[in-house]
Amino acid sequence: MAAEYSPGFPLFLAVSATPPPSSPNPSPGPEPKPRAARPAADPGESRAGSMNDTLLGKMVVARGLATDEEIEAAMGLARGSGNAPRALADVLVEHHIITKRQLARLRMNLEGDRAALRIPGYQIMRKLGAGAMATVYLAKQLSLDRLVAIKILPRKFLSDPMFVERFYKEGRAAAKLSDPNIVGAVDVGQVGEHHYFVMEYVDGETVFDRLHRDKRIEERAALEIARQVASALQHAHAKGFIHRDVKPKNLMLTKSGVVKLADLGLARAIADKEAAAAERNKAFGTPYYISPEQIRGATDIGAPADIYGLGATLYHMLTGKVPFEGRSPTEVMQKHLKSPLVPPDHVVPSISSDAAEIVEMTMAKSPSKRYQSAADLLEDINLVLAGHRPRHAHRGPDIGSIAADVEQSAETSPVQASRPSRGASPAILAVLAASILANLVLLLLVLIRR
Ligand SMILES: Nc1ncnc2c1ncn2[C@@H]1O[C@H](COP(=O)(O)OP(=O)(O)OP(=O)(O)O)[C@@H](O)[C@H]1O
Ligand SMILES: [Mg+2]
Repeated sequence: MAAEYSPGFPLFLAVSATPPPSSPNPSPGPEPKPRAARPAADPGESRAGSMNDTLLGKMVVARGLATDEEIEAAMGLARGSGNAPRALADVLVEHHIITKRQLARLRMNLEGDRAALRIPGYQIMRKLGAGAMATVYLAKQLSLDRLVAIKILPRKFLSDPMFVERFYKEGRAAAKLSDPNIVGAVDVGQVGEHHYFVMEYVDGETVFDRLHRDKRIEERAALEIARQVASALQHAHAKGFIHRDVKPKNLMLTKSGVVKLADLGLARAIADKEAAAAERNKAFGTPYYISPEQIRGATDIGAPADIYGLGATLYHMLTGKVPFEGRSPTEVMQKHLKSPLVPPDHVVPSISSDAAEIVEMTMAKSPSKRYQSAADLLEDINLVLAGHRPRHAHRGPDIGSIAADVEQSAETSPVQASRPSRGASPAILAVLAASILANLVLLLLVLIRR
């Protein structure tokens, strides 16, 4: 399956870790046709019927990518009857039962499964989910007899000493944070060739899951989610943490309505550039919520970057659409940099202008035009939830600055460019005054004639 970049909804739906049974896999036909043998992709997997092949077959069936019968037929081909045995993986790809991309994904999962099972002190129970870079498992921490979530990072990070240093440093620091709206960090470590991150287990769903199911979130509920995230950010920023990856997939919702920001301490370890590159190459995940300064590779990423990510997430929750769509990650990133934002209340007219103003201010292109702190954003959300006007957010009144902004396109505030001023301009006031005066004169003339 080619990684199509579907506008309108995040790509990870199109290239899901576990494609639904109806996933557009080319039908392999009843029995794959034998082809000339060629060397196996991975020497460790070259013996047909080995443990790897059996596991791989099971994983392919479990994900609905093939039937038991198809795997059996492919196993027969892999055994080679007379020819040299081949890896099942090769046969599956060659006969279009799975794509190379799906195979890479399955291998990553398989590696993660194996590593997870060997982490001392934890008993793995089941897989909770997988993202672009990692797989997350539910586990029991044996010493404390409690449930935790363990994220296993891929092998490739082992060889990057900078990453390892950042990963452990951030992990230790994150473990010191304590906030009801932040997924608590418990432990970091290494097992075999994999690093892992142990964290608080959240029994619930992500905002991404909720949006996938319900498409939109009603304004009050969306603002309430944003309020809790802003509070989490206020705490994290005060302790010197910038999350850098605030997005629906990193917001967990408990069954009792508590919102928890996940992956704090991980994003800085996995540098923006690397994450963006991984997304570009693998086409998992998309930069729908990334701030312009992160795209530009700025080194001084601060609180406004997280505020932008939260704003883009709030936009998605309120409107059911990501702020900028595109056929490729590059196109989406270009739009974050240069395209004016369609105000959320233009997409869904029932959205209040107060909520829309908050979103617009969080998503200004220039960090200096956004909320400067999560505390200010929190104050505005609280005011709007209480039925008042926001204090910090406003729709841009300054036409002159808009013209200047448009010229430095990367720094343009889309909100100001696309929004009429809230207050009437002097020209409009003059026209109004003239028309009132003319009416008065006419009235006077009529009265005099009578
Ligand atoms: N602490 C947790 N408790 C329960 N489930 C979790 C926890 N952390 C992550 N998950 C689940 O694991 C999934 C994968 O998480 P991961 O952070 O690896 O990727 P992601 O954030 O979903 O996506 P991406 O790789 O695009 O950032 C999440 O979508 C969520 O369903
Ligand atoms: Mg995550």
